Amino acid sequence: MAGAKFIIAFALLSLVFLVIFLSPINHIHNYLSISNLTSTSTATSRLLQDESVPKIKNNDITLARIEEQLAKARGEIHKAIVEKSLASRNTNGSYIREGTIYKNPFAFLQSHTQMIKTFKIWTYREGEIPLMHNGPMKFVYSVEGDFIEEMERKGNPMVARDPDEAHAFFIPISITNIVYYLYKPDEAIGFRQRMQTIVEDYIGVIAERYPYWNRSNGADHFFVSCHDWGPSISSGNTKMFKNFIRVLCNANSSEGFIPIRDVSMSEFNAPFNNIPAVSSGQSPYNRSILAFFAGGIHGFVRERLFQYWGNKEDDDIQVYNYVPKGRNYTELLTQSKYCLCPSGYEVATSRLTEAIYMGCIPVIIKDHYVLPYSDVLDWSQFSIQVAVDKIPEIKRILHEIPFSKYLEMQKKLIEVQRHFMVNLPAKHFDVFHMILHSVWLRRLNVQLNSFDSP
Ligand SMILES: *[C@@H]1O[C@H](CO)[C@@H](O)[C@H](O)[C@H]1NC(C)=O
Ligand SMILES: *[C@@H]1O[C@H](CO)[C@@H](O)[C@H](O)[C@H]1NC(C)=O
Ligand SMILES: *[C@@H]1O[C@H](CO)[C@@H](O)[C@H](O)[C@H]1NC(C)=O
Ligand SMILES: *[C@@H]1O[C@H](CO)[C@@H](O)[C@H](O)[C@H]1NC(C)=O
Ligand SMILES: *[C@@H]1O[C@H](CO)[C@@H](O)[C@H](O)[C@H]1NC(C)=O
Ligand SMILES: *[C@@H]1O[C@H](CO)[C@@H](O)[C@H](O)[C@H]1NC(C)=O
Repeated sequence: MAGAKFIIAFALLSLVFLVIFLSPINHIHNYLSISNLTSTSTATSRLLQDESVPKIKNNDITLARIEEQLAKARGEIHKAIVEKSLASRNTNGSYIREGTIYKNPFAFLQSHTQMIKTFKIWTYREGEIPLMHNGPMKFVYSVEGDFIEEMERKGNPMVARDPDEAHAFFIPISITNIVYYLYKPDEAIGFRQRMQTIVEDYIGVIAERYPYWNRSNGADHFFVSCHDWGPSISSGNTKMFKNFIRVLCNANSSEGFIPIRDVSMSEFNAPFNNIPAVSSGQSPYNRSILAFFAGGIHGFVRERLFQYWGNKEDDDIQVYNYVPKGRNYTELLTQSKYCLCPSGYEVATSRLTEAIYMGCIPVIIKDHYVLPYSDVLDWSQFSIQVAVDKIPEIKRILHEIPFSKYLEMQKKLIEVQRHFMVNLPAKHFDVFHMILHSVWLRRLNVQLNSFDSP
């Protein structure tokens, strides 16, 4: 198409979506004034003032088609929000109950439906195992390997057949594997840089070979890392990673995690097999322990917790370094009303999913942790959040929760379980779809414009 010139513009209209998701239902009408939003949204100004936005040529027809599909999806979501309609109210009316565990069930159900219908992802083929196209599928970082596996699974309906039909691009690098295969303690000092170089080289190759990275300056590209060091890949070259979507377990907002761009992903420990068991646990009427934790004293949050509550003869708040002799960890989770989930060496902890899997209300003890899928999920409905300096007050905080409120939260917790479940292959609304939905929302918030110039 001679004479056609393309520029990238970040959409005025589309930027409202995350804001809509982040707002409680009652306030949606306030946020629907688009002109208002675009003038006040910090995200908008962040992107519109971006001087690194490139002017490039590209295949206009494919890009226009992609953007048309996204525009249509935005329209449908917008409509569902305005009309407060659930995507399939008649057939699946009870599937997502109104006003419970979601910030906006109308937006979420419609957006998930649109994602399933529309979203296509291209996984770059470049690179070799074990550092690329492969990742851990056991233990605490297993979500990293599982996700890569799912994206490369033959028959995954969200896989783009051709990069030209993709709405987003996945960089299949495993930071956990890079650390596992390359890290040597005596080279610790230069390791972070070495890791950064591997990722930057990879991006250099795909940006040279294909038009997609340059077209968006990385804004429709993402990677997934559960490793503690995942966030640091971008610290060596902030310009390159300015728009890149980092999907991280270690979502520490005081270490550069930006909720409107990055995605907080849940961590789970898969010790025995790939699929952790999920159960409703004991009935909420028959949970005899008020609050329970057992685990290592990793990091300052847990030091604080142990300082006040560790290994004491307190019947209400049971905090152990090791599971008491003759007791079973999983069973203790199912017998507790509340499970303490303190941050470890980093903000995220697999305790959170363990608690959810066993129907035990998570008491998330953290500072600066952006909770997983919190664009969509209203964590206050099924968890308790305690700031680190409130650790001494945990007992009082939990005692003050009326039993009826506990029962209501526990019921919602059971409803939220499916969003944390691991299925290979992925199923609708499970943890992989929650991760993908988070990427989908961030993609919807960006528009790559093409238009003709004279
Ligand atoms: C924008 O919306 C906010 C919140 O609804 C409102 O308080 C404010 O007056 C609006 N501003 C404009 C310029 O309309
Ligand atoms: C309703 O939910 C079931 C899963 O429970 C799903 O298989 C079916 O496709 C859904 N129907 C619609 C119209 O979304
Ligand atoms: C993308 O931009 C980089 C840096 O400006 C350049 O080296 C590369 O050739 C570009 N890629 C394509 C496919 O044009
Ligand atoms: C209550 O919990 C105990 C273990 O804590 C279990 O042995 C018992 O079967 C449970 N009772 C009911 C009715 O679920
Ligand atoms: C602990 O209990 C769970 C659930 O009842 C059971 O599957 C597991 O085998 C038990 N573990 C041990 C070490 O006994
Ligand atoms: C989060 O980041 C801040 C700032 O770097 C750091 O001080 C804190 O230790 C981090 N949180 C955890 C739990 O590691």
